[in-house]
Amino acid sequence: MSETKITEQIINTLIDDLTDTRKRTLELVEGLDQQQIIGPQLEIVNPLLWEIGHAAYFHEFWTLRHLDGADSFLTNADELYDSINIAHDDRWDLPLLPLDDTKAYMQQVLDAEIDRLKNNNVTALDVYLTRYAVFHEDMHTEAYTYSRRTLNYPMPVFANTVLADKNYDAGPLDGDVEIEGGCYLLGANQNTDFCFDNEKWQHPVNIEPFAIARAATSYQQYAAFVEDGGYNEPRFWDEAGWDWRQNNNLKTPDGWKKDAQGNWLIKQFEQWQPMRPHAAAVHISWFEASAWCRWAGRRLPTEAEWELAASGSPGDINEKRIYPWGDQTPNEKHVNMNSRAMRTIDVAALADGDSAYGCRQMLGNVWEWTADTFNPYPGFVADMYQDYSQPLFGQTKVLRGGAWTTRSRMIRNTWRNYYGPDRNDVFAGFRSCSF
Ligand SMILES: [Fe+2]
Repeated sequence: MSETKITEQIINTLIDDLTDTRKRTLELVEGLDQQQIIGPQLEIVNPLLWEIGHAAYFHEFWTLRHLDGADSFLTNADELYDSINIAHDDRWDLPLLPLDDTKAYMQQVLDAEIDRLKNNNVTALDVYLTRYAVFHEDMHTEAYTYSRRTLNYPMPVFANTVLADKNYDAGPLDGDVEIEGGCYLLGANQNTDFCFDNEKWQHPVNIEPFAIARAATSYQQYAAFVEDGGYNEPRFWDEAGWDWRQNNNLKTPDGWKKDAQGNWLIKQFEQWQPMRPHAAAVHISWFEASAWCRWAGRRLPTEAEWELAASGSPGDINEKRIYPWGDQTPNEKHVNMNSRAMRTIDVAALADGDSAYGCRQMLGNVWEWTADTFNPYPGFVADMYQDYSQPLFGQTKVLRGGAWTTRSRMIRNTWRNYYGPDRNDVFAGFRSCSF
């Protein structure tokens, strides 16, 4: 936490963000029936009725209860919503509140949280924990969104969505940019307004000169691998990846099929739509991204290379830009985020968001797998919410940049996301490097 003076503007922004993330949560359960809101027991989803209550519980736990010593609005909140102590498989068997009562609890927490910001002497810790809870809810709204696709529920409806915009259809963006290597400072620096424990702190790593794609891999580029028989050739896959491909009997990425004319269709929520050839390929696992790279004679970037390409500039690899384009707050000219497009858009779109090296859409559109396993930076100390990063170290792969669903208020160049290498339900794709 930096020594920021807590201004009225900071407090008002926090209140707006609290209200906004809750609005998105409620939009994501809108129109679902009683059965859909619980859903089937799968390893990769939560029951939505549980998950929305859990998001409110997280706010209540860290702000009202932890900071103020207040009692929960519920007598059994910890038994219902504590994600650390309630095993994933048990979440379908809990005595959850009906939807209306869950919403009433969520509103009580939100009202009290806003009230304490308006009426207390707000400290840096208040701001940090409230922001943490907003970002936690933002991350869950991304999870509700991919869950709705996984479960074949209808596409959710958001007020800010613009489904068609000519700027989305900008076509392909081929080629690599060359980046000088050197001693790069990987991670967040101590002036950062807010960051998670896994980003702390910047530390020197040596990077050899490298060449990285200007854009993420498109559907058309990925389809060439599929059509070349890539899913039948063990030599393109590592051992765990080939086992995964075999066990799941995959011949294509998840949500691909051909129509009667032999054209690719891609699953968008519950619907099949024609493949947009130049849009970034999404719902690609790390195993698949790595196999494509082997087939193409390329490789995934390390997370240090990815971050340098996003935050450095020619002649100053340690410029440490907050965003690829600089420090201006992200808007729809820079990034496809906040569920504006409801899908990935063409990889040549949004030139205003280019990094100094000319890499496009490093933030937004699609999370990008890196070669690296998620591990702590030197000197790692877990933050107050101890289980944010620690349990996943050594078991997951790092992704960078955020997807079309991710909220732009929380993303930055140093942000590290992490999923298992088999996850093809999340909004993940990749960009590649040449050898
Ligand atoms: Fe959570």
